[in-house]
Amino acid sequence: MNLKGRNFLTLLDFTPEEIIGLLDLAVEFKRMKKEHIPHNHLIGRNIALIFEKTSTRTRCAFDVAAHDLGMQTTYLSPSGSQIGKKESIEDTARVLGRMFDGIEYRGHGQKLVESIAEHAGVPVWNGLTNEYHPTQILADMMTIREHFGDLKGRKLVYMGDARYNMGNSLMIGCSKLGLDFTACAPAQYFPKQSLVERCKAFSDTSGSHITLETDPLKGVEGADIVYTDVWVSMGEPESIWEERIGDLTPYKVTMDLMNRAGDGAVFMHCLPAFHDLETKIGAEMGAKFNINDMEVTDEVFRKYSDIVFDEAENRMHTIKAVMAATLGYE
Ligand code: CP
Ligand code: NVA
Repeated sequence: MNLKGRNFLTLLDFTPEEIIGLLDLAVEFKRMKKEHIPHNHLIGRNIALIFEKTSTRTRCAFDVAAHDLGMQTTYLSPSGSQIGKKESIEDTARVLGRMFDGIEYRGHGQKLVESIAEHAGVPVWNGLTNEYHPTQILADMMTIREHFGDLKGRKLVYMGDARYNMGNSLMIGCSKLGLDFTACAPAQYFPKQSLVERCKAFSDTSGSHITLETDPLKGVEGADIVYTDVWVSMGEPESIWEERIGDLTPYKVTMDLMNRAGDGAVFMHCLPAFHDLETKIGAEMGAKFNINDMEVTDEVFRKYSDIVFDEAENRMHTIKAVMAATLGYE
């Protein structure tokens, strides 16, 4: 696998072999990290971390991974740069490309990260856009493989807003790597038909299936992984909460739903999760709509928390693999 100089904007751009290669590299980095074996071969390099939306995992994963590889990082916060306000994306990309060896970007439309990639002249990594969250999928696949020992033939069911970054990206990852993927949601929350068609072509090759299902009880039948995400994503208006709670409550991951999934099924979540009222927004919505949780019950979240936090840890190992591979780690 030679990914030197490549961008990492969406898994659509990568072959199954390249994705597996990144997972294998992440496993190797995880082993080295656990055994305290230094792997700072990219010493002297500098990377920029641009976050136009907030982050805990992705920011920390890029930061720690970069430092482990010997690199320095510069963080540009949602309010701390000129991007898009006083300076165009193109000019910003051309400036940063002169100073940095790689650029991570989290923001709104996919077109923004594509534009940075077009003009920067150095590898650009998508740290989440409205459409895709490709580094998250690598961590999810690494975690599924660690847990089950394989990927092909497993069934992943995504419950909730399946037309956004996580639903889209899981569908791409599953169809490329041979996992069955079910988007389980009201029909208006299904991924765009054009993306479904593209992914069906991948799943034909990998031997898996894509299903769009509105009935949560049918959707979880035979599932190995029941996956969900927040019902309102970053950047969406607060006014949308009421509608989302109304539309998506039937798709909340409850213990009853988990009991109807396949034998040995696990629950996964990219985090952050609204599984209780211990957050500002959770408490506000709890009081406003008289609820105790949202996309997943606290009981389910706690029962499967080991794998959910493995998934969070694996963000760091997989992001390290992406940076190392695209920057030419030797
Ligand atoms: N899963 C994820 O991307 O988390 P953050 O928003 O905290 O980076
Ligand atoms: N769909 C969520 C994912 C967070 C990791 C969001 O975009 O806010």
